[in-house]
Amino acid sequence: MITENFETVIIETDLLILGGGMAACGAAFEASHWAKKHNKKVTVVDKASMERSGAVAMGLSAINLYLGLKNGKNTVEDYINYVKNDLMGITRDDLVANIARHVDSSVHLFEKWGLPIWKDEEGNYINEGRWQIMIHGESYKNIVSEAAKNALKELGENGEYYERIFITEPIMDGDRCVGAAGFSVRENKFYIFKANAVLDVMGGAVHIFRPRSVGEGLGRSWYPPFNSGASTYFTLKAGAEMTCQEVRFVPVRFKDSYGPVGAWFLLFKSKATNAKGEDYMETRKAELENWAPYGTAQPTPTNLRNYLMLQELEAGNGPIYMRTDEAIKKLMADITDEKEAKRKMKELESEAWEDFLDMTVSQALNWASHNISPEESPSEISACEPYFISSHSGASGAWVSGPKDLSPSDDYHWGYDNMTTKKGLFAAGDASGASSHKFSSGSFTEGRIAAKAALAFIVDNEDVASFDEEKINELKEQILKPLATFEEHKDYANDEDVNPNFIKPKMFMFRLQKIMDEYAGGASVGFKTSKALLEKGLEFLEFMKEDAEKLAAKDLNELMRVWENVHRMWQAESHIRTMLFREETRWPGYYFRTDHPKMKEDWKAFANCKWDPETGEWEMIKRDIKELT
Ligand code: ADX
Repeated sequence: MITENFETVIIETDLLILGGGMAACGAAFEASHWAKKHNKKVTVVDKASMERSGAVAMGLSAINLYLGLKNGKNTVEDYINYVKNDLMGITRDDLVANIARHVDSSVHLFEKWGLPIWKDEEGNYINEGRWQIMIHGESYKNIVSEAAKNALKELGENGEYYERIFITEPIMDGDRCVGAAGFSVRENKFYIFKANAVLDVMGGAVHIFRPRSVGEGLGRSWYPPFNSGASTYFTLKAGAEMTCQEVRFVPVRFKDSYGPVGAWFLLFKSKATNAKGEDYMETRKAELENWAPYGTAQPTPTNLRNYLMLQELEAGNGPIYMRTDEAIKKLMADITDEKEAKRKMKELESEAWEDFLDMTVSQALNWASHNISPEESPSEISACEPYFISSHSGASGAWVSGPKDLSPSDDYHWGYDNMTTKKGLFAAGDASGASSHKFSSGSFTEGRIAAKAALAFIVDNEDVASFDEEKINELKEQILKPLATFEEHKDYANDEDVNPNFIKPKMFMFRLQKIMDEYAGGASVGFKTSKALLEKGLEFLEFMKEDAEKLAAKDLNELMRVWENVHRMWQAESHIRTMLFREETRWPGYYFRTDHPKMKEDWKAFANCKWDPETGEWEMIKRDIKELT
């Protein structure tokens, strides 16, 4: 029996924080304060190592959410309107406002902890765009995680941090989440965490769609490849209601190495053009009127900027270029003094390279290996494959309770900020939906909000029922089964990857990506899909679900890959089902329903979904949008 080779470790805690990214760091920092006050225990469990895990692992060159409320530059209402417009009207104003009104203080903490933020001569932050500030952010995550760990240490025995434990399943007691199960990816240990409240902050999902980077580039993506849908899986399996599962995010990035474009568009004021040098945001402006009022507002929503670019490609006008050379020429145009020109050019050059070195080192390597000097030649940009995140211009995640003081009604607020529709289960960062554009600082802030609320829940609800041995053994067997399947059948064939008795996680992932790409509107079909295609895709997913029973793992690392891909499969299913449900095209540039090619007034609503753990049935729910501005 494979289970006998694994020690079962049972950890009891009050607040269980699942994840190690920005939201988890914010949660650990905030939770420590409240846990100390109430003498409660906080346990953080991360699949990797907090120092470099999550979407900010590589670093960032900007903090994309900072309002500067103190200096009166912006208001929370301004931010709500910006986010709402970017998401074509589909957003939870209350959640966006809750993050926006608190985010500045998080950024000030980052600075206090040592993050270098660009400043002008008067000591003001240097903005990239209206909401974005520039940082020297290669070590952003290290700095923030160090503060989170220090906060946990303050709790002494009541602050725990576990690394390299992969969480697979929620543990429920009726309607209440009471823990999680997982395993070490380094040693034969099976873990059960029992908790009074659980905060799901396990990030978004990538590699559900076939990536553009295949073959030697496989694994490269814009969003971190290790974020594989654990958040969505966790809340779905708990039976919690999900929202915006159709709202994927397709960013435009420097082609093939996924380098950031924000600094080029906003700081350097660069333009993107087709191969003929035409600025498609100008030449195709008329198209935006079809998507009014969002399309005609400023700034143009992210998906519509993508859409105009995709139309260029469809017309055969590629490649698409970021005109870095022209942008730099323009920035240099007014400088007549030769010495000053030399200095300025050096400054721009170093800013341009640092932008990549701070957050996407491979893009700097790409430039170097293709002899590209940004001041001399333009660079190709391209739409990535779809990702599932709610921290940028996507919105997928759990439907969570909003703050009481901003609540428009009972279906937006049910007691504790950021609690899902299941008691004691909280979500933040990429795990909570309909509150886009939180980015790194907002995710950290939302983690703080959720952790504070979770501690309040714990103080109010101390009565967790204990779960029995039988349930633990059942979970252990189920989670470790792929190891047993491999052991049982590995000698049948001489190639361990090809065996009629099992399927390896990599093959399984390829199959999922093919289905999603071809039927659910991936990059290779120009992000187009329809009812007929989606239904076919769903049919193939049903076969995948059957085959998931035969997933096999030769070691602990593959066991993690198995569960990552099961998580991806659930994210995929909720995506297809919700795209089917929403019978319109609302985000052209992210996906296009060819059978419903227009936006419809009666779909200015949330498309939510829920999976019932008792019956295994899916329920689709249409919810009203209640605006604050
Ligand atoms: S990156 O730096 O991470 O690559 P990203 O596209 O996300 O860039 O942009 C950073 C921020 O700038 C985001 O808030 C994004 O919405 C905004 N942004 C990027 N490009 C534009 C643009 N052309 N117009 C308006 N806002 C933009």
